[in-house]
Amino acid sequence: MENIDWKSLGFGYCKTNLNVRCAYKDGKWGSLELSDSEYLNLHIAATCLHYGQEAFEGLKAFRGKDGKIRVFRMDENAKRLQSSCDGILMPQLPTGLFTEAVRMVVSKNQGYVPPYGSGASLYIRPLLIGTGPQIGVKAATEYLFMVFVMPVGPYFPEGFQPTDLIVLRRFDRVAPQGTGRYKIGGNYAASLIAGKKAKAGGFSAVLYLDSKEKKYIDECGPANFFAIKENTYITPLSDSILPSITNMSLMQLAESLGMKVERRKVPLEELASFEEVGACGTAAVISPVKRIYDADLEKEYLYGNEPGAWSVKLYQKLQAIQNGDEPDPYGWTQVVE
Ligand code: PLP
Ligand code: COI
Repeated sequence: MENIDWKSLGFGYCKTNLNVRCAYKDGKWGSLELSDSEYLNLHIAATCLHYGQEAFEGLKAFRGKDGKIRVFRMDENAKRLQSSCDGILMPQLPTGLFTEAVRMVVSKNQGYVPPYGSGASLYIRPLLIGTGPQIGVKAATEYLFMVFVMPVGPYFPEGFQPTDLIVLRRFDRVAPQGTGRYKIGGNYAASLIAGKKAKAGGFSAVLYLDSKEKKYIDECGPANFFAIKENTYITPLSDSILPSITNMSLMQLAESLGMKVERRKVPLEELASFEEVGACGTAAVISPVKRIYDADLEKEYLYGNEPGAWSVKLYQKLQAIQNGDEPDPYGWTQVVE
């Protein structure tokens, strides 16, 4: 794609060649189909429109120095989508169908996979919606699975430069025994107002506390939270956060680099003792954090203006595997022809 300025890409929608679709009807999934349309023809009473029967995923493909395209951990995204399906009564999409759809859409949009070294990647967005009509509150009997792609740069404009987060206790993203561990649209709708306030104040995202006690750290708007102290990688254990595949990978990499890993409740006060703090996710990759402002207590926690040493190591290690610069001992990447 000659006219794309890969290096200055932000994180936004753009049209690419083809998307992939697969319908569920009469209790079974159909075959994968290609479409060149950006639109859907939907029933006005589709459950996704009224009752939020909708789940999505986010994963990336990277172009290596060798020219090959590698997709990162798509089996894990397939599993997480199945968990989201269970969470809101949608039929599970089999892993094989998910990965075949991802391979197909990446293969058909190869020209949009950014070049090696550009810092950009191909963002892959799978989406599953209830299309069958209901007006009583119940699950649809028909569904549509879709996957589309677009080249993206960093989610937070700072990229790997440290960014600021804000704690706002008046807003909850999810309920204590609610849907936070599923990747469903409603959680994101519930985060829009707080997210807008954060951005208006110059912060990249809200750092959510647990909704019940407001004592422990949950996660950032679009990413998991991690912190580092005394050579230990610490990340919250909570039922109301999304199980991040990036975070899961970083925990494994941290161990391989000789760090200790702790997945446990993280009390808010512990922020004062951390040496490095970051947000992690597919879109955010690793976003180091330089300041967390607790708006209710008017208190701030400061970290370095430059990414910390462990964050840099983890970032480099993750990217080396994703780009195919280093061997992938975990089998995380799949080459797409
Ligand atoms: N938490 C939330 C709320 C997210 O939307 C995301 C993005 O997917 C993440 C965490 C990070 O998850 P992953 O690393 O699987 O992309
Ligand atoms: C991702 O990291 O894939 C996300 O989905 C985050 C955000 C764009 C919702």
